Amino acid sequence: MITYKTTDDIALMKKGGSILAAALLAVQSAVKPGIGIHGLDRIAREYIESHGGAPAFLGYGTARGVVGYPSTLCISINDEVVHGIGIRDIVLHEGDIVGLDIGTRYPANDGLYTDMAVTVGVGKISVDAQSLIDVTRVSLDRAIALVRPGISIHEISKEVQGYCEGHGYSLIRDLTGHGVGFSVHEDPPVPNYFDERMPDVILKEGMVICIEPMVAMGDWHVFTDTDEWTVRTADHSLAAHFEHTIAVTAGGHEILTLA
Ligand code: MF3
Ligand code: CO
Repeated sequence: MITYKTTDDIALMKKGGSILAAALLAVQSAVKPGIGIHGLDRIAREYIESHGGAPAFLGYGTARGVVGYPSTLCISINDEVVHGIGIRDIVLHEGDIVGLDIGTRYPANDGLYTDMAVTVGVGKISVDAQSLIDVTRVSLDRAIALVRPGISIHEISKEVQGYCEGHGYSLIRDLTGHGVGFSVHEDPPVPNYFDERMPDVILKEGMVICIEPMVAMGDWHVFTDTDEWTVRTADHSLAAHFEHTIAVTAGGHEILTLA
């Protein structure tokens, strides 16, 4: 179901989103060769909880009959696209690229959800890896620039796909962006590739969406690891992911996940 947010809702989400973005910056500044990823997860959790929010992903999915998501951060390394569990016993190495995906409910009780992600390099990374990261980030910026009342989701999908494929990369198809606010995942889906069979939705004032390009250097096919969460590219090529929470406003849009 598509839900609409009032200007008060959006103001609250912007407050939560600013805490989220600051938490992610704290995590990013701790990324270095040799750090255990559970340390990053702890930084994220402590930052969110000490600023009045609650981690949005921790426990996620319990309702679908599986053990709920076990960490605050999704930490997805190299060929891991998204949903890498943040409390695995893994150390980051020079040259890795690492997706850091974080969500909060703010305020912690009865609050509203925001969601964002970045991909960063660990130490010195290859030119090719940096290019993948840069193209993915720019594709998100270009898609956000289109957001305003009256534009359709299909146009957003085409922008992300056209830009990334123009650089020789492919768009993950099994996962999409989404509406957000009263829960982490709301309608409409926001795919990163154009498929005329997918329902098109015209954006209206008060909608809040997450745009989140997930881009692979190689082929777009993915599989879910034996931990039942971590999504990897089938060909083990590198993948990058960026995400912002964006409100559709009368005048255009507002990014809610800025520090
Ligand atoms: N940021 C992810 C998304 O947009 C959130 C994953 S929720 C998880 O879908 F709990 F499953 F990790
Ligand atoms: Co999301």
